[in-house]
Amino acid sequence: DVGPVYDGDPIFTKKPEYFGAPLFGVAARTTELARKAVLKAKISYKTLKPITTIKEALKKKSFVLKERIIKKGEALRSIENSAYRLRGNFTTGSQEHFALEGQAAFVIPQEDDDFKVFSKTQHPSETQQIIAKMLNQKSNTITVETRRLGGSFGGTETQSFIFAAICTLLAKKTKRAVKLRVDRDDDIIITGKRHDFYSEYEVGFDELGVIKGLKLKLASRCGISPDLSGAINDRALLHIDNAYYLENILVENYLCKTNTASNTAFRGFGGNQGMMAIENIIDHIATSLKKDSAEIRRRNFYQKRKKNITHYNMKIEDNVIQEIFDQLVKSSNYKSRQLNIKKFNLKNKYLKKGISLTPVKFGISFTTWHLNQAGALVHIYSEDGSVHINHGGVEMGNGVHTKIAQLAAHSLGLPFNKIKVSATRTDKVPNTSASAASSTTDLNGAATLNAISKIKMNLAAYVKRKYKIKTNEGIYENGKVKFNGKSFRFDKLVKEAYLNRVPLSSSGFYATPKIHFDKKTFKGRPFLYFCYSAAVSEVIIDTLTGENKILRADILHDAGKAINPAIEMGQIEGGFVQGAGWLGCEEVNWKNNGQITTHSPSTYKIPAVSDMPERFNAEIFKRGKNIENVINKSKTTGEPPLMNAMSVFFAIKNAIASIGSYKINPKLDAPATPEKILMSIKNLKSRI
Ligand code: HPA
Ligand code: CA
Repeated sequence: DVGPVYDGDPIFTKKPEYFGAPLFGVAARTTELARKAVLKAKISYKTLKPITTIKEALKKKSFVLKERIIKKGEALRSIENSAYRLRGNFTTGSQEHFALEGQAAFVIPQEDDDFKVFSKTQHPSETQQIIAKMLNQKSNTITVETRRLGGSFGGTETQSFIFAAICTLLAKKTKRAVKLRVDRDDDIIITGKRHDFYSEYEVGFDELGVIKGLKLKLASRCGISPDLSGAINDRALLHIDNAYYLENILVENYLCKTNTASNTAFRGFGGNQGMMAIENIIDHIATSLKKDSAEIRRRNFYQKRKKNITHYNMKIEDNVIQEIFDQLVKSSNYKSRQLNIKKFNLKNKYLKKGISLTPVKFGISFTTWHLNQAGALVHIYSEDGSVHINHGGVEMGNGVHTKIAQLAAHSLGLPFNKIKVSATRTDKVPNTSASAASSTTDLNGAATLNAISKIKMNLAAYVKRKYKIKTNEGIYENGKVKFNGKSFRFDKLVKEAYLNRVPLSSSGFYATPKIHFDKKTFKGRPFLYFCYSAAVSEVIIDTLTGENKILRADILHDAGKAINPAIEMGQIEGGFVQGAGWLGCEEVNWKNNGQITTHSPSTYKIPAVSDMPERFNAEIFKRGKNIENVINKSKTTGEPPLMNAMSVFFAIKNAIASIGSYKINPKLDAPATPEKILMSIKNLKSRI
C-alpha cells in the first residue's frame, strides 16, 4: 500500500475501485515487448455500480474521512438578523498537473539487496520509506535520488510512489536495472488531480455589502482513497476567508469518496478552492447590491488593529492587502477602464468585455506541524575553497537550488560559481519533508545557512586560538574573511584550517518557530506568515461562440525582499497562467461509469502561448518585507500567484453580467469553458 497518511492506495489491487487502477507490472528488454506482453493479460471484471459525482457521494454518504464542522460566532443568528441575505451554490473543477515531465522511475539493484532509486518525485524520503515497507527491508537499504523534475505542481508529492514501487519490485524480481516511464495517457488515467469542490452557501450582509454571517457547505471529490485529502480540505477551510474578516461562520466540510482516481496535491492545495468559494459569494453580493465588486471586496478586508483575528483564531500581523489593492487600482487604471468597458459593451452586441480585481492572502507553512523542518549538508573543500551543498528540497523549476546557492554565496562572500548544489538524496539529508506548501526555499535555505554558520564558528574558533584575537563569526565578503581587523583570503583560510585539523563540513537544521495548530479545535497559528497579492484582469468574450481571451492582466505581488526577482517573476507569471487554465480552459471529465475522457493533449486543453494575456504587467510589490525571521526578509512565491487568476474568472462573469445590464447574477461555475459561458448566457437571458 503506497498511501501516504492513510492506507487505501494498493500498488496492485484485486478490487479495482476506479478506471485505471494498476493490476500488474511487466518487465521486458524493450518497451515494445513490454507493451505486447501487457496485452496478453486476460482480466475478467465483475462490474459494480460506481459513484462518480460529489452530489451522488453526498447523497449516499460515501466519504474517505469523517466530515468536519468548524464555527466561529453565531452564523445562523447573524444571517437571520442581516438586512440582506443570499443563497447559492458553486463548483470549481478539477485540474490535471500536466507537468512537462511525466511519472518516471529508474532503479538499480545494489549489493546486500540494497536499491538505488531514481525517482521523479517531490518527496524522496517518503519514497524511501514506502519502498522499504513494500520490500519489508530497513530504510537504510534504500537510497532515493532526485536530480531535478520537469515541473510537478503537487503531482509527485505522493502519486509518484506507486511508479517507484512498481519499478523497484521489477528490479528486485529481475535482479536488473529497470526503468519505468509512464505513457502520458496512462499517467493521466492512473493518477489523481486537483480536487473539484462543490459549495452551498447562505450569507447575510448589510447595505454596504459587509458580511455579517456565513453558512457554507464545502464538499470535495477525493477519489477512491484519502491520500492527502485531509490536509487539502484543512487548507480549504483555512482559506475560506481569503483576505476577508468573517465574524460569524459555520462551515460543514465533506470529503467525498468517488470511484475516480485518488485526488491529490496541486499548487494551492485546497486553499485556492476555499478562496474561490468566498470570492464567488462576494461577487454575488456585489451584483445583488449593484455595486462594483472591488468596492465590496475592500470593505470586507481584514483590518490592521481590529477585525484582524481569523476564524481559526490567528492574529494577522503582516497585513498589506489594502496597500497592494489600492496601488493596483491606480497602476492598472481600474476605474477608467471599467467605465470604458461599460461603454464598449453598450456599443457591441456580440462581443462583451469584463474586468475584475481580486485579492490573495495565502498562509505559509505546512498545516501538519512536524513537516515544518529541513536539513542540509555543506562541505567546503580544502584544496580550492569550493563549496558543495545538499539539502532536502527538490528542484522542479522552482529555482530552489539557484536560490540556495545564492544564499550560500552571499553568506560566504564567494562568487556564485564557487557553489554547487547537487541532487537531493536520502543518504545525504534524511527525514525530509516533501518539496511542497511553498516552503521549500524557506525551510531548506535556512537549514543550509545553519550548516554554514556552524563551519564559520569552527573557523572563528581556530583564528581566535591561533592568532590570539577576540572575534565574532567574522565578515565574509569578496572572497575574503575579516576577523576583528585580521584579513584572510577565503581559500587560503580554508586550507590553513584544514592543515590545522579544523572541520570544514557540517550538517544544518531548521524548524519553523512560532507555529502551532490543533486540528481538533481548528484553532492556533498554523502559518508563520501570509503572502499577499492582487490582480486585475480584463477579458473579452464572444457571446455567440463562448470563445474568450484575456486582454490584459496586471499583478502586484508581495515577495518580501525577493531573493531572486527573476525566479519570482517566473512563478508569478507562470502561476497566473496555470490558474487561468484551472478556471478557464482546463476541464477534467468523466463518463457516467467513471472512465476519464480527458486523458491526452487532444482532449484536455492547457493554456497555450496564445492564451497569454495580450498585455501582461506583473510586478513585485516594492515595499514588501517579511516581518518574520525568514531568510533575507523574503517571502516565498510558489503557490500564491496561481490565485491571481481568480480575477480572470470573475472578469468573464462580469462580461456575461453586462448582457443583463449588470442587474442579474450570472450562474457560472468553473472552469469557464466556452460551453459553460454559452450556457451561462442562455440561462441569464431566460431570467431577463
Ligand atoms: N501545498 C500546501 N500545503 C501543503 C502541501 C502543498 O503542496 N503539502 C502539504 N501541505
Ligand atoms: Ca496527474
